Amino acid sequence: MYEEIKSKQASIAVVGLGYVGLPIALEFARKASVIGFDLKQDRVEMIRQKQDPSKEMPPSAFEGVDIAYTSDPQDIQSARFYIVTVPTPINEHNEPELTPLLNATHSVGKVLKKGDYVVFESTVFPGATEEECVPVLENESGLQYIRDFKVGFSPERINPGDKNHTLVSIQKVTSGCDEESAREISRVYDMIIQAGVHQASSIKVAEAAKIIENTQRDLNIAFMNELSIIFNRMGINTFEVIEAAATKWNFLKFYPGLVGGHCIGVDPYYLTYKAQELGYHAQIINAGRYVNDSMGRYLAKQVVKKLINKDKHPRQMRIQILGATFKENVSDIRNSRVVDLIDELKSYGIQKIDVMDPYASVRELKEEYGLELTESNDGPYDAIILAVNHDQFTDMPEQEFIQRAAPDALFVDVKGIYRNKIHHLDYWSL
Ligand SMILES: NC(=O)c1ccc[n+]([C@@H]2O[C@H](COP(=O)([O-])OP(=O)(O)OC[C@H]3O[C@@H](n4cnc5c(N)ncnc54)[C@H](O)[C@@H]3O)[C@@H](O)[C@H]2O)c1
Repeated sequence: MYEEIKSKQASIAVVGLGYVGLPIALEFARKASVIGFDLKQDRVEMIRQKQDPSKEMPPSAFEGVDIAYTSDPQDIQSARFYIVTVPTPINEHNEPELTPLLNATHSVGKVLKKGDYVVFESTVFPGATEEECVPVLENESGLQYIRDFKVGFSPERINPGDKNHTLVSIQKVTSGCDEESAREISRVYDMIIQAGVHQASSIKVAEAAKIIENTQRDLNIAFMNELSIIFNRMGINTFEVIEAAATKWNFLKFYPGLVGGHCIGVDPYYLTYKAQELGYHAQIINAGRYVNDSMGRYLAKQVVKKLINKDKHPRQMRIQILGATFKENVSDIRNSRVVDLIDELKSYGIQKIDVMDPYASVRELKEEYGLELTESNDGPYDAIILAVNHDQFTDMPEQEFIQRAAPDALFVDVKGIYRNKIHHLDYWSL
């Protein structure tokens, strides 16, 4: 397969052109012949105009590539190597929502031919690829797994908004359903991944590796969040404690904060779901999730408490929130925990909450959460909450905050970046 792809006798189809799929498709299209398929016609149209709907890549990324974009699933039938990069979210009960993945698998199954390869990149629980997706491929195609077509799993590790760790500079884990496919899939990815590939011993191992990377991060942040709740009661600053503790060589430097998005806050639930199915109730992982999911509401409660203690009444409070996306320097608002913060503030009867974000889309925020963005500093604000450390927000002179602040205002620095820089406002951080 590798030789055919390299010589462009066989082409690659990437199914799902989002944060993960589009960079993969474009990178492969520098070396191979690629078909980029996404169900969303408007997204495909934008991409054809050399615009990344996720705002991660510049127009230059679309230059010098051999790629055809389509929103018609029929168009992928000429490919031989399918890469599936569709969302794997959770439902309202925090259970895996595999519908997009299975729909994409149906599309691939319908056009699958003898000798084809299908590599899944979407994050799933260990076992999902072979237990959930492979039967769909077999049923749709009438072909037999391993004998007629091969499957692999290669988790994606890109970190949106991070200009240092990019697709090609992050080592990639690959796997296949047998020795031959594992080797061929590794060789194919090795074409584009400068950092090289790590061939896992099985699909399940590769699936598990991805899920624990994010679960580990979730748990470490949950620990810091719990510490910040404890230290707040002790009247000490968590960031100062971490700074001191981190002078020991083996201390792990994680920070408290809001954990949103479609990876860190979601993937652990895939693992706990599967564990539950196997008769084990995961306690540490669920506890971490509980702590992290509560932080938006915790923050709101602290803010309101502090403002009431300043003799301010919730109905008259004016609050500005800087940042609405799920993390810094991205436009992605999926599972943004800033929304929990806002909802909780509103539940106290606070009506004037202005949200400012240079990245978030006004339309998406309105559609998804019914939230409006504002570009003006229509203060004076009783509290300014720096919720997301976008570059635009991280180096502002204190004077800018003072200008929009009401007398005796509170400055809430969720990420602790203005520590020792705010001298005239009442400062509080996690
Ligand atoms: N975004 C990240 O930082 C990141 C990092 C690592 C892993 N992942 C994982 O990668 C996967 C994809 O995530 P993403 O952030 O790129 O999602 P995304 O929402 O940005 O993109 C997914 C794309 O798939 C398309 N799509 C959905 N169903 C389809 C179908 N049946 N056929 C064709 N296209 C379809 C959507 O229209 C969308 O454009 C998820 O499993 C995610 O957990 C994401």
